[in-house]
Order: sequence, then C-alpha cells, then structure tokens
Amino acid sequence: MTGAVGRVLVAEVARLRERRPGSPPSVLDVGGGSGAWAVPLARLGCAVTVVDSSPNALAALQRRARESGVHDLVTPVQGDVDALAEVAPPDAADLVLGHGLVEVVDDPDRAVAALRAAAAPGAAVSVLVAGRHAAVLSRTLAGRLAEARALLTDPDGRFGPDDALRRRLDAATLTALLEDCGLRLEVLQGDGVLDGWVPGAVRDGGPSAARAVAELEELAAPVAALREVAARLHALARRPATG
Ligand SMILES: C[S@@+](CC[C@H](N)C(=O)[O-])C[C@H]1O[C@@H](n2cnc3c(N)ncnc32)[C@H](O)[C@@H]1O
Repeated sequence: MTGAVGRVLVAEVARLRERRPGSPPSVLDVGGGSGAWAVPLARLGCAVTVVDSSPNALAALQRRARESGVHDLVTPVQGDVDALAEVAPPDAADLVLGHGLVEVVDDPDRAVAALRAAAAPGAAVSVLVAGRHAAVLSRTLAGRLAEARALLTDPDGRFGPDDALRRRLDAATLTALLEDCGLRLEVLQGDGVLDGWVPGAVRDGGPSAARAVAELEELAAPVAALREVAARLHALARRPATG
C-alpha cells in the first residue's frame, strides 16, 4: 500500500501484529466496495470483512481477492452501515475502515457511531472522505464559478442537486464528526494533496517524475494549509481503551 493513507494503515497493522504475533489482525471495511483497500490489507495478512450494500461491488471484490491470491482472507458481507450490528459483532474489529463512505450515507453521525461501535476498545477507525476545498478550487480553475460558490457556501459542500455526493468535509468538520462520536483523533492528513495539480506533461515524465510527485505528496500530506485543499481528507481516530 502506498501513499499517505497506505503508510498510516501499514503502520497500524504492524502495531497490531507486534501486539498479537501469530494472529491475523481483523479488519472491518465498511463500504469497502470492490476491495481497493481490503485486498492490499489482506495481502498484508489481515483477515478482512467487507460490508457493502452493493452486491455488484462485492462480486468485483471476490474476483479481485481471488486474482490476488487472498480469497481465504476476505469475507464479503452484504449490509448497510445503518444496520452494521446485524452483520458485524460489536467491540470486535482490530481496525475499522470507512473510506469513501461518509460522503454517500444518509446520516454521517450515525455512520461514524456504527464504525466506532464495531471497533474493539483501543482499536483505530480510518475515515477517508471527499474534501470540500479541493472541489472549490478545481471548479474555479475550470471556470465553473456558480458551482464553486455553491461548494463553498452550501452547508454540506455540494455543488447542486445533481451532485453525486451527499457532502464534502473540511478538516474542522471531519474532526468534529469523529470527536463527537467519542473517537480520539491521531492522524489528520490530506490524500491527493498536490498530485492532481501536476501538469500531464510532467506526470508523463517516467518513473523519476512519478517518484518526485510521490515524494512531494508525502511531504504535503500532513501540512495543515495544504491538506485543506486535498482531494480527500484522511483521519485515523482511536476508540478509547475504556468506554
Ligand atoms: C466510493 S465507494 C468507496 C469504495 C472503497 N471504500 C474505496 O475507498 O475505494 C463507496 C462504497 O460504499 C458503498 N455504500 C454506499 N452506501 C452504503 C451504506 N449505507 N452501507 C454500506 N455501504 C454503502 C457503495 O456500494 C460503494 O461500494
């Protein structure tokens, strides 16, 4: 797993392995889709349960897991985050993911509360969500000023009724969402901070250009001013060991 999010997850898995050697960390990936995160985590040796409302996504997940040789470590479960307790035991997962989920659900507070409830005491919850300010900038640069204005002023950070997303967040709203659910924020960083702004001619410059972009991205991810304009915001927050 690469990128800022990948690095944080790899470190968390290493921490879990050190604490309980010989037993695969249990990961619950809610809204895990076709396994963009679940399959790499299974390749790290985690036992990953993917809960997703879409049967098509789960079928794609199974194909991907088979192709990667980790079919036995990935369990697909059709279910809704709003009824997570029906398909995932409470207080159990070593690591819970909700990536690309908060921006599409009906009620973000309820969704994050469900992620927290599924996490074992002391376990981490990883949330990756669409950033509001990157969308404002990109619409502005494209000359779509009415949409940029709506993204900036709409309480949910939407550009209008045709917006496929229910909301976009910024650092403050993501922090509040997690902390109000009783999670302790440990990491808040940008994902896709600068790479989207790199001109195509530079990006196509071969492996050394790709390396330079990746290094720039790594340096930019934790910088507060830059993460506000990241395409996605990533948070790792921990459920307190007691409570
Ligand atoms: C944008 S995709 C993200 C997939 C993956 N987590 C990733 O980061 O690549 C959102 C996923 O959430 C699922 N989803 C949407 N609403 C859901 C809900 N209420 N409960 C569970 N899954 C949901 C969708 O089916 C889809 O697979």
